[in-house]
Amino acid sequence: MISGYRKRFTAPAEWKGKHLELTFGGAAHEAMVYVNGAKAMTHACGYTAFSIDLTDRLRYGEENLIAVRLDSCESLNIPPFGHVIDYMTYGGLYREVFLVVTERARFADVFLRTEGSADAPELVTSLETENPDGRDLRVRQQVLDGESVLFSCETPLAEQLRLDVPGVTLWSPDCPKLYTVCTELADAASGKILDRVDIRFGFRFAEFRADGFYLNGEKLKIVGLNRHQSYPYAGYAMPASMQAFDARILKEELALNAVRTSHYPQSHAFLDACDELGLLVFTEIPGWQNIGDAAWQDQAVRNTEEMVTQYRNHPSIILWGVRVNESQDNDGLYARTNSAAHRLDPSRQTGGVRYLKKSSLLEDVYTYNDFLHSGDNPGCDPKRAVTSDMAKGYLVTEYCGHMYPTKPYDDEEQRTNHMLRHAKVLNDIAKESDIAGSLGWCLFDYNTHKDFGSGDRICYHGVTDMFRNAKLAAAVYAVQGKDTILEVSSSMDIGEHPASNRGAVWIVSNADSVRMYKNGRLLKEYFPQDSPYKHLAHGPVMADDFIGNALEENEGFRPKQAEAAKKILNYVALHGQDRLPPAILAQAAKCVALYGMKPDDAVTLYQKYVGDWGGAATEYRFEAMKDGKVVKTVVKSPAKKVLLDVRVSSVELTERATYDVSAVRIRAIDENGSVLPFFSEPLFFETEGPIELIGPHAASLKGGMGGTYVKTLRGKTGEASLTIRSLQAEPVTVRFTVTDGRKAQL
Ligand code: GAL
Repeated sequence: MISGYRKRFTAPAEWKGKHLELTFGGAAHEAMVYVNGAKAMTHACGYTAFSIDLTDRLRYGEENLIAVRLDSCESLNIPPFGHVIDYMTYGGLYREVFLVVTERARFADVFLRTEGSADAPELVTSLETENPDGRDLRVRQQVLDGESVLFSCETPLAEQLRLDVPGVTLWSPDCPKLYTVCTELADAASGKILDRVDIRFGFRFAEFRADGFYLNGEKLKIVGLNRHQSYPYAGYAMPASMQAFDARILKEELALNAVRTSHYPQSHAFLDACDELGLLVFTEIPGWQNIGDAAWQDQAVRNTEEMVTQYRNHPSIILWGVRVNESQDNDGLYARTNSAAHRLDPSRQTGGVRYLKKSSLLEDVYTYNDFLHSGDNPGCDPKRAVTSDMAKGYLVTEYCGHMYPTKPYDDEEQRTNHMLRHAKVLNDIAKESDIAGSLGWCLFDYNTHKDFGSGDRICYHGVTDMFRNAKLAAAVYAVQGKDTILEVSSSMDIGEHPASNRGAVWIVSNADSVRMYKNGRLLKEYFPQDSPYKHLAHGPVMADDFIGNALEENEGFRPKQAEAAKKILNYVALHGQDRLPPAILAQAAKCVALYGMKPDDAVTLYQKYVGDWGGAATEYRFEAMKDGKVVKTVVKSPAKKVLLDVRVSSVELTERATYDVSAVRIRAIDENGSVLPFFSEPLFFETEGPIELIGPHAASLKGGMGGTYVKTLRGKTGEASLTIRSLQAEPVTVRFTVTDGRKAQL
């Protein structure tokens, strides 16, 4: 649509003689800005910021009117438009807008990068300075660790500063150490500070080589996911806290070390969080498969320039994507985008995501969406089958996704296979030592255009749902982290499976071992080395014994007899009794011939030990063991209760540049804490105090999971609460405190 925004404000008289710059963080997708009725500028691209010099356009001491006409029509002749797109391109002014008032002599840009070597790092700064009055200026720079000044220099105004920074802690995912680099512009005669730019910066060396990715000289496998910047109900418009929340999920809940900002530059708040938390970022120009005409291509080049100049101070960014995602080769265009990125940032390599093998490679790294894996074949292609230049680095930028869309309310088999596909790709990429790593498709389910998704305009490609509730597949990522994870793929209800077979039960854990019990009887202890995913430190392990020593103890079977009967029962549990393979038939023959058993015995044993019919409810208990102690327990038994498990991103809401938001994630769980994947009943939300909902007052859980968002109300502070009611579970109330952080910010 075409929309309009207006802001009236008084420019104080004392601003006269200063420099005033108004910056729009994100205006989707073409903005025309009017200042006091006169057109001031047009900016195309919904994913990069732009600034307007208001110095000579404002009326000082009087009221001024800024108006924006925003075109978010998909008919615009700019990226990503022109053909189809597998994601929504929400419109609006969806990032912060801010006015910066400085002296006329000022820094127009400060660009920091690390040079030298890991042993002798050097901070290199490129400065662009405005000095309209031709003043005699000096520059000072300090590198601070908290309050302490570690390094400093001072020179007459220069375009470049070089500062040795020996002994700094290098930034990495394990140790995302950030320093503050403070650069000041001073009047040479009086020493008065005219401008000051503080940048949080991490010193690091990132390089894709032929045999992998190196950070600070050490080889590091990239393991990450793709992230869109969309949210239920709000589209793109979410404040800094919500941007950071996604980074926390990637790092803290999924234990990843990387993310791709598919398919456009994302909020600085997200990148700031990646800097802080230690996530390596691959960021790319907007677009999806299609390349437009000459004007469109010129815009793609401008987008590259804006992306690089606006984001290059983030230490987390390790690679620029200078091709439109999955577009065809176009050497004319991509020579321009590639050289623009190198010209504006000599410190980073370039890539450009394709689904093409052996395509024209102008960039430094071959970045490829490898959708080879379809369930029963290798997880990825080897590097040599894909890249056109073995001497350059190679990174897998997508896998899974549309190959196996999975809803949280799909049946257990589907959800389990979804998890195993992710495990298989991760495993096979881990095996390929010359693949720098991978970024899977994708972090969460997302709204999309009619041409994609499941008919409801949703791509169920995430390892979490839209509210960022983990699906089963999330466990194969989380388990690679430090928190103790114990996840069991099955609810242990045989009726959920075709022909009431038990189906495969997978255990995902990073404990030393996992003990599986049935009604208190130990069935088997599983170890990491039991996993078929040999290249993962903690690959999923399949439970293959549902009997343990019960046949000896309960039925008085001799050891050999028990062994034979167990083989049959465990086979039948998994695959059913039709078409038994020769090896199992041989065991059956043995039972009849040697131990005098009858076919009817098999039925009785099956019902007792596999089917779990009748009698008291069966309880399966899984205990994760570390250093001989139980560190986590999962219990699976028929659910008796429904409880609401509510987790919020924060109970402290603080208004700063905009309203603040808290994400509320809700799951229906049973008394053992297991998600109830088929609990789809409605929830009702009520707020009290200075917050309101983003989205409806009622929503159904899907796959036992759902959520909502609460936001602050401009200028209102105090205690607030959200109550969530359902038809069956006890209501849950979450209390929030809303404060005004605007004064603190000033
Ligand atoms: C890729 C594309 C992504 C998404 C994904 C689904 O081809 O780059 O944007 O559509 O497929 O798996």
